[in-house]
Amino acid sequence: MTQTPRPITRTTGMTAPREFTGGPRHIAIIMDGNGRWATQRRRPRLFGHHAGARRVREVVEACPELGVKYLTIFAFSTENWKRTQVEVAGLMSLFRRYIMKEMQAFVKENVRVRFIGDRPRLDAKLRGLMDEAEALTAHCTGTNLTIALNYGGRDEVARATQRLAQDVAAGRLDPADVNEETLPRYLDTHVLPDPDLVIRTSGEARISNFLLWQSAYAEYEFVDTLWPDFSKDELRRLVEAYGGRERRFGAVPV
Ligand code: FPP
Repeated sequence: MTQTPRPITRTTGMTAPREFTGGPRHIAIIMDGNGRWATQRRRPRLFGHHAGARRVREVVEACPELGVKYLTIFAFSTENWKRTQVEVAGLMSLFRRYIMKEMQAFVKENVRVRFIGDRPRLDAKLRGLMDEAEALTAHCTGTNLTIALNYGGRDEVARATQRLAQDVAAGRLDPADVNEETLPRYLDTHVLPDPDLVIRTSGEARISNFLLWQSAYAEYEFVDTLWPDFSKDELRRLVEAYGGRERRFGAVPV
């Protein structure tokens, strides 16, 4: 497979700290707690996922007013296939319906949609809709919404390494040039800046294989709220709390 080197859009914070002040430019969210939210209401887990999908809309809408230019959400992990067949099929159907329903709204709201993750395992209809949403919103210049679908951080690094190795084997890349700037060009996120703030809902303090390389210098917030209860106000509070922190990227304060 031919792999054209991708342009460097950013490097990790250690070599080139991003220059922006105030709030986070890129927020990544692990939307956890849909199942528990549904169980608390004696409803099937899918009921919680549907409620969670409605929260995505509210959070995307809040981004422009909070100064958040990039939002990346973890919708389905490479490990989530281990759930029951009913839940997996229900989630896939929710994703298909969500994309179909929201596509026009994204265009209207100037939201550029991208997907990250390993696509071949997803069904053809869903993949078609993902391609369509990306193409339809390619001109949008507002919020950059990235949906991680069949995504795993280790899987992403493994796939990236495979492509990198192919380039080395074909003589397109010198092994001496493999470094912190060239490797991220092969990641799914190659056009995105690294996340500044990673939020996980539902009280679990784990990163669960999400954006492992990209979050090396991110701030983390673990909140107890279950995802279907997560609100714009809570997001605002977290954005404000982030604004008060000092990020040093390994350097000594001056
Ligand atoms: C984790 O909660 C959530 C998921 C695995 C799915 C996330 C999906 C959504 C929020 C649905 C909508 C998303 C889009 C993009 C339409 P969990 O099921 O692990 O909850 P639990 O830990 O309480 O069981």
